[in-house]
Amino acid sequence: MPDKQNIAAWLSRVGAKLELGPAPIPEHGNDELLIQTKAVAIQPAEYKIQDGVLPFPLSYPTIIGLCFSGTVVQMDPGVTRFHVGDRVVTNSAGTLRNDARFGALQRFALTTQQLTAKIGEASFEQAAALASNLYGAMSALVLHLHLDKPSTTPDLSNKAKKVLIWGASSSFGANAVQIAASAGYTVVGVASASNAGLVNSLGATEFVDRRHASAAEDLIAIGPFHAVLAAADSAKDQEVIGTVLAAQGGGTFLSTMGVREGVKLPDGVKGVFAQFLDDYLDLKNADFTSWEWWEDLEEAVAKNQIQALPTRVMGGLSNTQDAWDLLRQGKTSGERLIIHPNSD
Ligand SMILES: NC(=O)c1ccc[n+]([C@@H]2O[C@H](COP(=O)([O-])OP(=O)(O)OC[C@H]3O[C@@H](n4cnc5c(N)ncnc54)[C@H](OP(=O)(O)O)[C@@H]3O)[C@@H](O)[C@H]2O)c1
Repeated sequence: MPDKQNIAAWLSRVGAKLELGPAPIPEHGNDELLIQTKAVAIQPAEYKIQDGVLPFPLSYPTIIGLCFSGTVVQMDPGVTRFHVGDRVVTNSAGTLRNDARFGALQRFALTTQQLTAKIGEASFEQAAALASNLYGAMSALVLHLHLDKPSTTPDLSNKAKKVLIWGASSSFGANAVQIAASAGYTVVGVASASNAGLVNSLGATEFVDRRHASAAEDLIAIGPFHAVLAAADSAKDQEVIGTVLAAQGGGTFLSTMGVREGVKLPDGVKGVFAQFLDDYLDLKNADFTSWEWWEDLEEAVAKNQIQALPTRVMGGLSNTQDAWDLLRQGKTSGERLIIHPNSD
């Protein structure tokens, strides 16, 4: 049993500010590991839960946060792939489990071995930043948009297929650009002009400024698109995507937040939503899950194959509310905010 007290950032109800307070050290169950959390990747879903925009039916008070890195301190004897002392990155799926013991924003949190990867000597911050959306972008592109997985020998015919990533400078979008590019597709990225260099460096061959009045025309001239992912978008963006798809005779786009209320899409254009973590909890995808967490992610970290967005360390748990506020106010761009739960 760790000799340090557990402290958590507690959310007492929807709309409440986070408050620091003691929490029991969670006891692991079957297939579970207890992790001393070192770096939590802050994600937009967290402040959206606080705002009630994502209406997860949670029992309050609760501890939010999904993706973190840290050190294994205890585990179920049935866990054979990991050892005490291993440096790992994980997604605890705590919100979907409605279980505060799995919330990332505490000094000691539970997770399962299926959604955990070893990170060797890589930085805790970079690993958490990368893992926070690599899995989501992977299932979006491979399971939902039916694109090929990344490969060192991609199908050469993929070059002729254009993949549009709207919101390419978001953490989700940045991963998607790199995955699609390394599967051999021609990637077109949309983001704010200030992030053009970043998006091109990730592997996009063409860039369009999402704020430019001619964005729709520019994209229509570049298309048609074989697949469209809205990794970060607004209602207005979805209408532009609708116009682009209508110009190529219709089609479907996948949106990380789904079609917004009031958005009218042209005939023949559809927007679809998926909750990507569900893909990894679904036993029918067990092979895909172990490939993503135990092969792809571990290799990406070990070989530095996928570039995570630059990280900004906000401080300890007491800085989490500030981090959520920055995300809520749209004051972060092309970066991932990090909390160090054991530093206060
Ligand atoms: N469905 C799921 O399972 C799932 C899973 C993970 C994430 N998500 C959602 O996916 C979205 C992205 O998450 P994330 O972690 O990647 O966020 P993030 O990195 O915090 O996204 C911030 C970036 O989004 C871009 N952005 C903001 N508004 C935009 C808009 N209207 N159009 C295009 N880009 C915009 C900004 O880029 P610029 O500054 O370049 O404009 C900014 O750099 C969030 O809405 C999140 O809740 C959903």
